[in-house]
Amino acid sequence: MKLFDRFITLLLSISIASAKSTSSVIIPPTTSNGPTHIELIASSNMLNTPKITNIHPIMYGQAWTFDAISSKDPSYSILAVFFDSPEYSSTNNTLSVLVYVQAGPDKLYTVASKFAEYAELNTHGNGTSGVWKGTGCSFSASDDMSTVTIDFTDPFEITGSVVLNAVAPPHYPCSPAEIGASMEFLPHFGWDNALPDAKTTVDLKVNGTEVKFEDGIGYQDLSWADISYEDALESYSWGHGKLGPYSIVWFVGEGSDGTQKASGYVSKDGELLSTPCSGVTVETEAAEPNSTIGPIQSFTVEIPFENQVIVARLIVNNILINAGNLVHGTGIISGGVKDGRIEYSGSAAFEHLTSA
Ligand SMILES: *[C@@H]1O[C@H](CO)[C@@H](O)[C@H](O)[C@H]1NC(C)=O
Ligand SMILES: *[C@@H]1O[C@H](CO)[C@@H](O)[C@H](O)[C@H]1NC(C)=O
Ligand SMILES: *[C@@H]1O[C@H](CO)[C@@H](O)[C@H](O)[C@H]1NC(C)=O
Ligand SMILES: *[C@@H]1O[C@H](CO)[C@@H](O)[C@H](O)[C@H]1NC(C)=O
Repeated sequence: MKLFDRFITLLLSISIASAKSTSSVIIPPTTSNGPTHIELIASSNMLNTPKITNIHPIMYGQAWTFDAISSKDPSYSILAVFFDSPEYSSTNNTLSVLVYVQAGPDKLYTVASKFAEYAELNTHGNGTSGVWKGTGCSFSASDDMSTVTIDFTDPFEITGSVVLNAVAPPHYPCSPAEIGASMEFLPHFGWDNALPDAKTTVDLKVNGTEVKFEDGIGYQDLSWADISYEDALESYSWGHGKLGPYSIVWFVGEGSDGTQKASGYVSKDGELLSTPCSGVTVETEAAEPNSTIGPIQSFTVEIPFENQVIVARLIVNNILINAGNLVHGTGIISGGVKDGRIEYSGSAAFEHLTSA
């Protein structure tokens, strides 16, 4: 009876909260055996609210991913992932934060959080803020999602902040971010991209070394699945970058059941031009076997928009992760509108999983 009362109180507080367009969710550090609920059709403009509840031990769960690359020098970058995922956390714990900071060609720092007591996600307007309690890691968003700030503090081994100021509108795999749109990238796997491009300031301290850049090309997305990552994604190629006035994102993948999806995104000066799921191609060129920059040398990406096509080539020059079949890195991207006169170049990040 007591439990039931608490349940009613909880329901009441959720409905009162949603009337004010404010909601609060506490995520425990443990997996659950209760019925899992996953959201794959957008029911609101809040892209960063939790999309899955009751995560079982063999599930990917959900992850809020942030990254930023210096536009002058792609060997300065950061990748931060806030996990609610038993597959990416330690034994019997679903909550962790993993951060990679590259501070020049040969300086890579990798830091994983210690035990999180719980995660608390608070949503005001369209912005969701998250605290991974006890880890020293959190992020906070403005109501209109124009600014998201990541904060690291003691006991985390990195301290400081990353401030992302949105310069491009959000999107779902094959559409603008509109209520009722599908967020399903592949069966059982959802993806949304609240910040496809953001002007980003990084001000961090790692082991006494300061890592600062103000010209970052930032990004944030949320991915989630109610099956294991391995079962959801057989292989994929993801990346984002900036070419002059254009912000681009690509995510092409194949599920373990053979389903394929190729999603692209183009915006120009902050205006959304295209979110196609057809005509998007990503070609990979393997590196020489003696390469010191991992297995891939370059990517060639094509994304159609308004009867035109963006063509971009990313030359890999820094690797943050090279583990098994997975590579994550940064590089220089160059290209523009196909057959156009102006070629742009900038910085980009990519991640690539080769099928096992
Ligand atoms: C993890 O959970 C399993 C099953 O509930 C249990 O048998 C095991 O002892 C737990 N391990 C730790 C380190 O708590
Ligand atoms: C900081 O330096 C210490 C001592 O060299 C090392 O053990 C530790 O792993 C370093 N931390 C990071 C985040 O690289
Ligand atoms: C949330 O997003 C919707 C759709 O883009 C917009 O109309 C609304 O003004 C946003 N709310 C806030 C608080 O910015
Ligand atoms: C790698 O091998 C190619 C030929 O296969 C050679 O041209 C190149 O110089 C080598 N690079 C390095 C870094 O050894």
